Amino acid sequence: MKKYCLLLLISISIFYKGFAEEGMWLPQLLQSLNEKEMKRMGMKINAADIYNISKGSLKDAIVSFGGFCTAEVISDKGLLLSNHHCGFDAIQNHSSIQNNYIRDGFWAYNHEQELKNPSLFATFIIRIDDITAAIFNGITNILTEKERQSAIDKNIAALKTSVKKESYQDLLIRPFFDGNKYFLFVTETYRDIRLVGAPPSSIGNFGKDTDNWMWPRHTGDFSMFRIYADKNNKPAAYSADNVPYKPKRALHISLDGVKEGDFTMVFGFPGRTNEYLHSSAIEQTVNVSDPAKIAIRTKALQVIDGFMRKDEVIKIQYAAKYASISNAWKKWQGEILGLTKTNAVAKRKEQEDSFEKIVLSKPELNMAYMDLLKNLKQAYTDIEPYAYARDYYNEIIPKVELWGISADMNSLLTAYSKDEETYIKRKAEVLNKLEDSFKEYNVAVDQKLFESLMDLYCKDQQADYISPAFKAILIEKGNSFTALSESVYSQTAFNSFDKIKKMLNGSMAEAVAAIKADVAGQLYTDIFKTYVTNVSPTLNSLQIDINRLQRTYMQAQMDAFTQKTFYPDANSTLRVTYGNVKNYQPRDGVKYEFQSYMDGVMEKYLPGDYEFDLPKKMIDLYNKKDFGRWGVNGRQPVCFIAANHTTGGNSGSPALDAYGNLVGLNFDRVWEGTMSDINYDASICRNIMVDIRYVMFIVDKFAEAKNLIAEIKFVSKK
Ligand code: ARG
Ligand code: ASP
Repeated sequence: MKKYCLLLLISISIFYKGFAEEGMWLPQLLQSLNEKEMKRMGMKINAADIYNISKGSLKDAIVSFGGFCTAEVISDKGLLLSNHHCGFDAIQNHSSIQNNYIRDGFWAYNHEQELKNPSLFATFIIRIDDITAAIFNGITNILTEKERQSAIDKNIAALKTSVKKESYQDLLIRPFFDGNKYFLFVTETYRDIRLVGAPPSSIGNFGKDTDNWMWPRHTGDFSMFRIYADKNNKPAAYSADNVPYKPKRALHISLDGVKEGDFTMVFGFPGRTNEYLHSSAIEQTVNVSDPAKIAIRTKALQVIDGFMRKDEVIKIQYAAKYASISNAWKKWQGEILGLTKTNAVAKRKEQEDSFEKIVLSKPELNMAYMDLLKNLKQAYTDIEPYAYARDYYNEIIPKVELWGISADMNSLLTAYSKDEETYIKRKAEVLNKLEDSFKEYNVAVDQKLFESLMDLYCKDQQADYISPAFKAILIEKGNSFTALSESVYSQTAFNSFDKIKKMLNGSMAEAVAAIKADVAGQLYTDIFKTYVTNVSPTLNSLQIDINRLQRTYMQAQMDAFTQKTFYPDANSTLRVTYGNVKNYQPRDGVKYEFQSYMDGVMEKYLPGDYEFDLPKKMIDLYNKKDFGRWGVNGRQPVCFIAANHTTGGNSGSPALDAYGNLVGLNFDRVWEGTMSDINYDASICRNIMVDIRYVMFIVDKFAEAKNLIAEIKFVSKK
């Protein structure tokens, strides 16, 4: 009996734990859904300190950074903190041979030195309202999906005109729970965002692709910006007259660090998760789509890496492309590993069995959801070949840049068919865009990518998804991809910016005739046509079907598992996730500590290496143990992990302690746990944060930006 009780206790606590750390919660619902549990897990503040619309709360310090990352306000003068990889575009745009901020870093020692970034913005969330009832007004079950969507669109449009907001505010309406709920966000977007500081890449991206998605980690992945506002502290386009923004709330920085078991929460804008899928969708991810995408990227990376290793110029040109291809490539491998290791499919099937049992036991559920699981499974079976073709197309075609250039050039033909004015406007746009892309283009690399990736396009796909024109020309070349690529790249003018400029310089009629006659343009037209004729229509209609079934299944799960509190999948809206600082065991016999130190940076240091080099000053500071107030017991903390449920978009999110003070800066997850997007499992899912004391050490001791340290408020409970 005792043993049984103990077992029961363990299984309850496992269930309880799993639930406790999983979830990306809506800030306005924390009070009703999560506050009790958050306090049980160690939080010392109230939900109203996190989200409050009548006075400044933590949410007023959090912004969506450029729509792809998160950032937080850390001073009363609008100082923003985000990741180095989030600010990278801005850092790159200001870099030149003379001022190589990517390599050397950048620091503004006064406001005048701060650099403007025309396309960057920071969006605050002012208020979140449940508008489900208004959106579903007049929606019935007899509507087709198309009718339903257009009725919803009408309701959205009507609501947008009736909701009260200030002239400088915007409204954002988003579906949640696969379209079962709708929330409205009142937002304020600031568009004068200036670069304040960034460490050299050898700190901000220390360990690059080798360490990416890995623990233990030693990266100082941060950069700093500042929000500028007009004289009334309101959003305004860039102007030299703008002034530093005065926030409703700025985060305070804790000097205390974290210890095992400490409560942490991450507040930010997670991009996309799929936590409520049918087991067959997970099975497809593990067995079909992830492996296909990985195989394509493996080939692409091999090609690019081969060139980068031999050529300094190509190394710089392709560094960003390589990093972005490799980022998802590595993540998907971790995803397969984690899903397999945690038996995600089998567990999901068990859950489906319980669902079926509950549905069968309740007549009203049985009526509504009788064949739901069967239909979902069938829908995933039906979509599989089309989804595979989509993955192939999306993974292969954009990686052969000749096809992207062809698309741009062909767009001139469409413009020409309208009128001269459209053509001239489009020509300027195309030239502008291509001038940029050719800076990071090498013909030999692209030709080799064509050769190896188009091979996959032809070999691994169902016959009617392959372009007939492409097949025909391949046969002409004796089925040799080498011969074909040589022929295409020697004939086309689309692989050289000079040739393109020359082509477009002549009369409009001549230019149009030359574009029409180009072999790359012709092949691309047929590749595109084959896809939009033979794949897209069926794919789209099957996808609409799956979306409808998934929406029903989401509601069905909430109706069946009434004991469970559900959180909506991530959709780039503001969320809170909370958990505890925790080590983990990636595999048998191996245990990872939760904290890394600068000793580890030095262990990895490889002079002159592309990924593991360090600035000399960092080494000197380390040797002198000159950590200032940012070190503990003669050691400098660098990164730490916790069980917070995060995803892409959470980069740059603040990690807050029990009191709501900043202790870390989120930037990654551990490899074994990247499957948290589909199946969060507290045993191996960990988010990775830069310890805020490492950030401050670099600002203070490395950059000596005392001006920045002076505007931040530090706190300590010790
Ligand atoms: N893996 C992280 C994320 O998905 C960091 C990526 C940036 N770092 C890199 N080495 N590519 O975005
Ligand atoms: N590195 C990711 C980001 O850029 C975060 C993650 O996927 O965990 O948002």
